[in-house]
Amino acid sequence: MQKNDNIIILGIESSCDDTSAAIIKDGYLLSNIISSQAVHSAYGGVVPELASRAHQQNIIPTIHQAIKVAGIDKSEISAIAYTRGPGLIGSLLVGTSFAKGFSLALDIPMVEVNHLQGHVLAHFIKEKGIEPHIPDFPFLCLLVSGGNSQIILVNSPFDMKIIGQTIDDAAGEAFDKCAKVMGGPYPGGPYVDKLAKEGNSKAFSFAKPHIPGYDYSFSGLKTSFLYLVRDYLKTDADFIEKNRADLCASFQCAVIETLMDKLRRAAKDLKINRVAVAGGVSANSGLRGAFEEHAKRYGWDIFLPKFSYTTDNAAMIATAGMFKFMKGEFDSIESAPYSRIVKS
Ligand code: KG4
Repeated sequence: MQKNDNIIILGIESSCDDTSAAIIKDGYLLSNIISSQAVHSAYGGVVPELASRAHQQNIIPTIHQAIKVAGIDKSEISAIAYTRGPGLIGSLLVGTSFAKGFSLALDIPMVEVNHLQGHVLAHFIKEKGIEPHIPDFPFLCLLVSGGNSQIILVNSPFDMKIIGQTIDDAAGEAFDKCAKVMGGPYPGGPYVDKLAKEGNSKAFSFAKPHIPGYDYSFSGLKTSFLYLVRDYLKTDADFIEKNRADLCASFQCAVIETLMDKLRRAAKDLKINRVAVAGGVSANSGLRGAFEEHAKRYGWDIFLPKFSYTTDNAAMIATAGMFKFMKGEFDSIESAPYSRIVKS
């Protein structure tokens, strides 16, 4: 494995609705630019066709800005790390095609990164002047986003094993649907999180899933929420208005308890007390609070990402790419993006 001196990695992320570019030099983050796409909020979810068009518009200015903020010249870049999948294929094609063109133009290698592994490796992003709290291996990572809810056993940057995952909806999807039922915005997670702070988490109770092993299910919880609201609305047209905060607090509590029950069991069975959380839902204040409580109660060493690294970002892709670069794992110009298959 090489030393990471004088190595400059450009990271590119375009798997969903954020176009992001980041520069890492000698292991430290110099820039992380994210161009988000507001266009989707009007549709209540990400519209793939609009996402790929927006990536096409944003990718060059975003990369240009990342290079400028980092204060480097493009000729100094050692390699390009890009998200190959999983994600929306049209979105991935934009980042992949740019990475190929830039790698040919600069005559430097490409490194492919699995988006989900990128989220896990966000815990290894280093910034000058900030003392890093980096997990030793092995550790457990709860990866919770709009598309995934997984418990991952992380043995090394290159050896990650999914030991549990959702069999239907993801946790983020459940938050989004809960907000939608109440007429809230998309994405719904931040909205539910904010209202939940003012509500009573014991006001309403919802059916809990009984799924074997470390797997999750959130579709029953979502239906239970929908039916409860629908039934109350039959006798009280203002039910949502009067109970918005309590509904959010109760729903959020049910999601967090479901997530933490399985994670606690996995940590106990595997005798691992280093536990991390990653992905968009890791921004949730209730979930962060539950991690802190578990740290006190069960002696967990917990790893909570900085808020800017919870959502999709290229800093995590550049970091994951750096591990592969140092191992000499380069990608072929013929590689195609993949939407679903989780490659290692
Ligand atoms: O990882 P991410 O940015 O995108 C992908 O799914 O790839 O995650 C987005 C998800 C959305 O479902 C959003 O509602 C959820 O993360 N989310 C939250 C919070 N912030 C974002 N869920 C709960 N509480 C939050 N504060």
